[in-house]
Amino acid sequence: MKTPWEYRYAQRTQRMESSAIRELLKYTEKPDIISFAGGLPAPDVFPVEEFSAACERVLREHGAMALQYSTTEGYLPLREMITRHSARYGIKITPENVLITSGSQQALDLLGKILIDPGDRILVESPTYLAALQAWKAYGAEFISVPMDDDGMNTDYLEEALRAGPKFIYALPNFQNPTGVTLSMERRRKLLELADQYGVPIVEDDPYGQLRYDGDHLPSIVVLDSQFRDDGTACYRGNVIYLSTFSKTLAPGLRLGWVIAPPEVIGKLVQAKQGADLHTATFNQFVAYEVSRAGFLDRHIQLIREVYGRRRDLMLAAMDRHFPAEVNWTYPQGGLFLWGTLPSYMDAKDLLKTCLDKKVAFVPGEPFHPTGGGKNTMRINFSNATHEEIQVGIERLGSAIKEKLARQVA
Ligand SMILES: Cc1ncc(COP(=O)(O)O)c(C=O)c1O
Repeated sequence: MKTPWEYRYAQRTQRMESSAIRELLKYTEKPDIISFAGGLPAPDVFPVEEFSAACERVLREHGAMALQYSTTEGYLPLREMITRHSARYGIKITPENVLITSGSQQALDLLGKILIDPGDRILVESPTYLAALQAWKAYGAEFISVPMDDDGMNTDYLEEALRAGPKFIYALPNFQNPTGVTLSMERRRKLLELADQYGVPIVEDDPYGQLRYDGDHLPSIVVLDSQFRDDGTACYRGNVIYLSTFSKTLAPGLRLGWVIAPPEVIGKLVQAKQGADLHTATFNQFVAYEVSRAGFLDRHIQLIREVYGRRRDLMLAAMDRHFPAEVNWTYPQGGLFLWGTLPSYMDAKDLLKTCLDKKVAFVPGEPFHPTGGGKNTMRINFSNATHEEIQVGIERLGSAIKEKLARQVA
């Protein structure tokens, strides 16, 4: 029987779903399970002491301001810092181009709020970041997908997808969640060129770009776009909305992200954000600014690169040792994840059941596919496991796959 509340929910709630991953994580988070399922940064690299000192300094020196309401755009010194930091990656902007959000996730939601009408099509990679799909479904989005391969979004399929009239393109060029794959330079150019030709804007989501463990940094789409249309002014007015976050470089509990966009888009997002939360937590913005000063953020990112890079190497070596030849996996140059592909007849959800008996977990890849497919794929996180857990967990995972294969043959 329906409860009285169910008659009152808005229609859009029918399109809301709990994240398939969050449901799954309930089973994978038991203490005796080695879990490669979550997407968590490693807590052992959280700069707890630096945060403690920064909190004290903020309260002592700026207590009244830090505890007060503030502007929707965000704390100006933090926006200026992001402007300087972005310039080092070739992103030429002014603070007018920057909005601080409550995590990148809020930016995704606000973009849905200002850009998506029910029935609008969004062009996404397949697989792609699940929580973006979740956020945009609530606004009535439909999805057109372009497949991924080892060089990222396969731009050979892009033109056909663009002909279906998407409102915007959602791209994750660096160490994509979930695959760990990076968009090649040639495809970055192609993506931008076709987007321009069809007049479709790009939302570039880049939470992991600074976490590169090898290879050369590739320019963001927003950088290529600004070179392409350089009008001589510092303010960016192009075709790309760029998102990033402090979640992977400082701490996800801060809930601090940012949007870089033309000022008119920032203005619309500000209006949308006022309805959501007035502004991002003032205190957290002050603390993040204070922690990041005097070169700390750069040093800390370097530490994270070393720690996660070692974990990635260990995991890849363990997979070489323990996984059968029938399994393929990606080689991520950065980020938090790698992506496994099982033989096409194998279902990763079934494999997970066997794995849970063996006390190891991953995330089956199917839910990341916006238009279906991917039953035989899996996302494996390497950032949040100790060296020993990686060795033992990958051995268990390998033996579960071998058991399944043997049963298939028998
Ligand atoms: C691709 C992508 N976008 C956005 C987010 C959200 O990050 P935040 O913690 O800044 O909300 C994540 C988090 O894992 C992510 O992987």
